[in-house]
Amino acid sequence: MPDMTDTTPPVAFPQDRTCPYRPPAAYDPLRATRPLARVTLFDGREAWLVTGHAVARDLLADPRLSSDRDHPGFPTPTARFAQVRNRRTALLGVDDPEHRDQRRLVAADFTYKRAVALRPRIQQIVDEHLDAMIAQGPPADLVGAYALPVPSRVICALLGVPYTDHDFFEAQSRRLLRGPAAADVSDARDRLERYFGELIDRKEKEPGTGLLDDLVQRQLRDGTIDRPYLIALATILLVAGHETTANMISLGTFTLLRHPDRLAELRADPALMPAAVEELMRVLSIADGMLRVAVEDIEVAGATIRAGDGVIFSTSVINRDETVYPEPDTLDWHRPARHHVGFGFGIHQCLGQNLARAELEIALRTLIDRFPTLRLAAPAEEIPFKPGDTIQGMLELPVTW
Ligand code: HEM
Repeated sequence: MPDMTDTTPPVAFPQDRTCPYRPPAAYDPLRATRPLARVTLFDGREAWLVTGHAVARDLLADPRLSSDRDHPGFPTPTARFAQVRNRRTALLGVDDPEHRDQRRLVAADFTYKRAVALRPRIQQIVDEHLDAMIAQGPPADLVGAYALPVPSRVICALLGVPYTDHDFFEAQSRRLLRGPAAADVSDARDRLERYFGELIDRKEKEPGTGLLDDLVQRQLRDGTIDRPYLIALATILLVAGHETTANMISLGTFTLLRHPDRLAELRADPALMPAAVEELMRVLSIADGMLRVAVEDIEVAGATIRAGDGVIFSTSVINRDETVYPEPDTLDWHRPARHHVGFGFGIHQCLGQNLARAELEIALRTLIDRFPTLRLAAPAEEIPFKPGDTIQGMLELPVTW
């Protein structure tokens, strides 16, 4: 329970990780004040940081917390986010009942069954990239050769976006999530929206076979959705659909190579892979900071979150709540990790989680099977990883075999 008489200054949020697979050391004191803390954001404003697992799940399911980015109390964690927070954001930026209607339109395309049906195609894409790596010979940058192109091709195939445009949309996604300048973010968003506007024009004339083609032919044509919404939806699906999974593949591989005993266990027992993916999702918590604003007062854990207060969920700290995960910093394929909040929780829980799990299982399994001598090609401490104010992952991953 937070001690509201505590006068320690709030921790700044977000901060850079000191090790790519651990939360920033500066968050360590937050474990002692679970389930809530006060944090300071880049603009000097304060917000609540949710750090306890049970309270996080309660609050993520609580309609008194809103995702409305136009609300003046909605937290702004970075100067970059300030540039685009008021732009129309499909799904993630809306509350029920509008959210429910938006989600219903695409939910059938992201079920467990659909992910199972996509597995052979994912395997084929994975094999092609590993064949190319073998043909090229060591060393390789695993991010450029594998971790990024695999999910990028998968989401292109699913949406009906030409993969030949990948240099363009990968670069814009990068600018959207990481800048570096704040102005990059809105420019990247403009460019992606123009791109999708043109792609939708083409699909109206010549329908293809992807999810965007279906949406154009059915919902756009009959007026269920409008053009700006379809563009906003395509943008979030494409960006969320490749950047996150790419980071999990690169950071997941780095983490396995830094834990040789756990890697050996996985090589020896392929059936452990689904559990390993959940445990890596828990420990790595790459999307570390889900954002909400309170629209009513909420009494929780002895504190009052006031209407208008910003509320942020630190997945990395929540997923290390020792009341749920004993010895939380230890990687353990045998613990029940599935209730982590690495994919969020409640109405906004990741739409692509079934797809992401299938991609991660296939990508990591095939990589370790086909490269039994895979190892880092540079000292671990010298390999650059992403700053704390974006989705966590490796900037590059030099490997050899
Ligand atoms: C390992 C990879 C992934 C991670 C770690 C991840 C993480 C997350 C998290 C934490 C949320 C909840 C955000 C919040 O409540 O504020 C979310 C939502 C979402 N994710 Fe993912 N995601 C991943 C892969 C994907 C993929 C492959 C797609 C494909 C389309 C996707 C699409 C979405 C969408 C559309 C939402 C918003 C859902 C809604 O608001 O209803 N994600 N994701």
